[in-house]
Amino acid sequence: MSKRWNIVAPVAAVMAVLTGCVTDPNSPGLEYMPDMYRSPAVEAYVDYGMDPYYVTEDVASAQRSTPSARVPVAGTIAFVGENKAFGLPYAYPNTPEGYEAAGAGLVSPLMTTKAHIERGMEIYEQMCSQCHGEEGKGDGALSRNGHIAGIPSYSDKLKDLPVGKMYHTLTYGKGLMGSHASQLSQKDRWLVIEYIKVLQQGGEMPEFDEAGNVVESAAEGAMAMNN
Ligand code: HEC
Repeated sequence: MSKRWNIVAPVAAVMAVLTGCVTDPNSPGLEYMPDMYRSPAVEAYVDYGMDPYYVTEDVASAQRSTPSARVPVAGTIAFVGENKAFGLPYAYPNTPEGYEAAGAGLVSPLMTTKAHIERGMEIYEQMCSQCHGEEGKGDGALSRNGHIAGIPSYSDKLKDLPVGKMYHTLTYGKGLMGSHASQLSQKDRWLVIEYIKVLQQGGEMPEFDEAGNVVESAAEGAMAMNN
């Protein structure tokens, strides 16, 4: 038994080597696993039918009319990167109903932190204080010199204005205040709103912990511990 294998094994090996060699220099010879060294050349957005040498012509022709990647459908919104929350289109229409709905339903994607409030303050000083005044009392330079009248104070008339309405106004404008959608990105609009919330409280900064997060009031903290 073992003697017979002594002959069969070398003969099989020699035959395998010989059938692997062919005289035509352009022939690849016998390919034992063609898919390992010949992958289909698929490039993005190009129709590449698989080589009918490996699959049947039916399969290849079906693949030929299939792009290797598809263009996104119309209206697709990119949803990648760190600013995911700010890439979406604004859902509320520029109508009185849209304004009310934004006030009732729209919340900020931002946390109230020291860094956000401080960035909001910078934006406010650059783009808003000329009308609204440094402290948000409606007494900026343009108001004092009579160009724009009747700007409400954040800490008085607008004390309870919800952030959704602020965002709506920043996006579309309201009365004598124009839209700021082209000057401020969605994130910048929410950042400046973080600072308006401080001005609604008369400009007093909340208390922050070392990480810059707002410290809850003692009463709220005690309640959280009891739960
Ligand atoms: C050209 C002057 C002007 C500038 C600049 C301006 N505002 Fe106003 N803003 C107004 C006026 C006027 C109103 C009152 C609008 C009304 O109720 O008719 C107002 C109203 C508001 C309100 C209340 C909106 C509401 O829903 O009642 C907010 C919030 C506000 N502004 C935020 C800002 C912020 C933030 C900036 C800077 C990015 C800014 N404004 C820049 C003039 C201005």
